[in-house]
Amino acid sequence: MKINVLTVPAAQRESLEQRFAARAGAVESSDGFEWFELLRPLEGTDDYLVYTRWRSEEDFQNWMSGPMQAAHRGEGGGSGGSGEGERPKPAATGSTLWSFEVVQQASPKQG
Ligand code: HEM
Repeated sequence: MKINVLTVPAAQRESLEQRFAARAGAVESSDGFEWFELLRPLEGTDDYLVYTRWRSEEDFQNWMSGPMQAAHRGEGGGSGGSGEGERPKPAATGSTLWSFEVVQQASPKQG
């Protein structure tokens, strides 16, 4: 899985969540995409986590080199053309990409 860690000043939290509420929604149609969650910190950290799960590293890289960049330009999946000046000030002041692979997993026993 790929987790983008976003440093978000307290005053920018609402604006970050609104940005995600209005996100492009393009990731859902990307080949090999399996799961997305925006995780709001409650305790232990102030960082937000953008959790994504992919079928393969290659699927993630394909998304990163195309749809991801459009989704982060605020184009909302529509035709582009917005000038640099129209991009709102970023809500996050920093970001770090974490990569993990699953070593073990479990789900509840049936019955
Ligand atoms: C410079 C670093 C990054 C920042 C500041 C950032 C911040 C944001 C913000 C504010 C949004 C909401 C849409 C928008 O307003 O653009 C968004 C969307 C998203 N971000 Fe990032 N992001 C960064 C890089 C990444 C990376 C490396 C990943 C990989 C896990 C990622 C995963 C996502 C996903 C899955 C969405 C939703 C896209 C969609 O709906 O199609 N972001 N990001």
